[in-house]
Amino acid sequence: MPTANPIDFLFKFEVMKIQIINGPNLNLLGVREKSIYGNTDFESYLTELRNRFASLEIEYYQSNIEGEIINKIHEVGFNFDGIVLNAGAYTHTSVAIADAIAAVKTPVVEVHISNVYKREEFRHHSMLAASCKGVIAGFGMDSYRLAIESLTTA
Ligand code: DQA
Repeated sequence: MPTANPIDFLFKFEVMKIQIINGPNLNLLGVREKSIYGNTDFESYLTELRNRFASLEIEYYQSNIEGEIINKIHEVGFNFDGIVLNAGAYTHTSVAIADAIAAVKTPVVEVHISNVYKREEFRHHSMLAASCKGVIAGFGMDSYRLAIESLTTA
């Protein structure tokens, strides 16, 4: 019977991988509609998140283009442990992103910085939520932290 090799154990121990995906106009955080989205740009907040979750690998991707968001979901959706997705306005319109979320194995948490239910009626409906593990909205940037907590705690 083979004996357990501690080196094998070390190499087999894998860090949890979380992909954050931000959709359209979220490259303008800190500049755009500050009374709704706050003063912080996402890169500064990302540094805080990575410090807080130092034991995780947190990747970040932003695109204003629907197909690129879908490509990223396909790319990470079979090998990452979780996806935190703020699809911006595509949340309310995109059947294609909903299909991409349903097509992959990695659980997706939908996040919103603002409380979309306090805003215009067209923001009250999400095309994506039914394909997601859950939805977190209205906690400002902290919505991303809460989403990571929900993906990494059993
Ligand atoms: C948002 C809410 C969406 O309705 C809006 O289109 C966004 C940002 C949020 O994070 O609050 O771009 O997803």
